[in-house]
Amino acid sequence: LHGVVAMDGPSGTGKSTVSRRLAAACGAAYLDTGAMYRALTLAVLRSGLEGTESDTEKVAVAAVADLESVTDPSAPAIRLSGEDVESEIRGAAVTSAVSAVSAIPAVRAALVERQRVLIDEAITGCGGIVVEGRDIGSVVVPDAPLKVYLTASEDVRAARREAQDRKAGRAADHAAVLADVRRRDELDSTRKTSPLHAAPDALVLDTDGLSVDDVLTELLRLVTD
Ligand code: C5P
Repeated sequence: LHGVVAMDGPSGTGKSTVSRRLAAACGAAYLDTGAMYRALTLAVLRSGLEGTESDTEKVAVAAVADLESVTDPSAPAIRLSGEDVESEIRGAAVTSAVSAVSAIPAVRAALVERQRVLIDEAITGCGGIVVEGRDIGSVVVPDAPLKVYLTASEDVRAARREAQDRKAGRAADHAAVLADVRRRDELDSTRKTSPLHAAPDALVLDTDGLSVDDVLTELLRLVTD
C-alpha cells in the first residue's frame, strides 16, 4: 500500500477493526484519529474544567503536546503524558463528552496538524498508512488516492457498539447505546467545523449485512486495483 487510505464514517460501522486489519495485511501504518479526540477529552474531564468552552479549548489544545500515538497496526497505542489511556478513553464518560470537545475549531486545527505529521512520518517509514476518522478524506488528506466512507443502519451500528462494549467488559444496554450512537452522529454531522460527511470522491460502502471479512476483502481489492 502506497500513500494514504482515508477511512471515514460514523461510529459502529466497523471502521476501526477493518482499518487496522487492512493496515496489517498491507504492511502499512494505522492511525485512529478518534482515539486522539478521545484522549484530549479525557484530559479535559480530568482537569475538571469542562464547564466553559474557552477552558475546555485551552486544556484540550495544551494536551495535544502530551499525546503520543503509536501507529503499528499490530500494537496501536494512545498515551497521554506517557500513560496508556486506551481503555479509559472507550468508557461512557469520554464517549458522551467527546463530540463537544471535537466540535471546537482550535482543537480540530491542533489535532489535524499533529495527524499530518504522523502521516508524513509513516509514509517515510513504511510507505503507506490507513487513517480512520470523520474528516480524513474531506479535510486531513483531501488528496488521498483512496477514500472510503463506511455506513450502516443505526440499529446495526448500535448492535456492533454493544458487542464491542461487552467484549471489553463494559455494561451494554441496547436502548442506551442506540441513543448514544444517534446523539453523537447528530452532533458530529451538524457541527460547524468539518461536519461528518462523505467526501465527494469517496467510495461509499454500506456494511449492513457484511461481515468484517467481507469488508476487508472488498478493501483489499480496492487497494490492489
Ligand atoms: O471514532 P470514534 O468513535 O472513536 O470517535 C470519537 C469521536 O471523536 C467522534 O464521535 C467525533 O466526535 C470525534 N472525531 C472527529 N474527527 C475524527 C475522529 C473522531 O471529530 N477524525
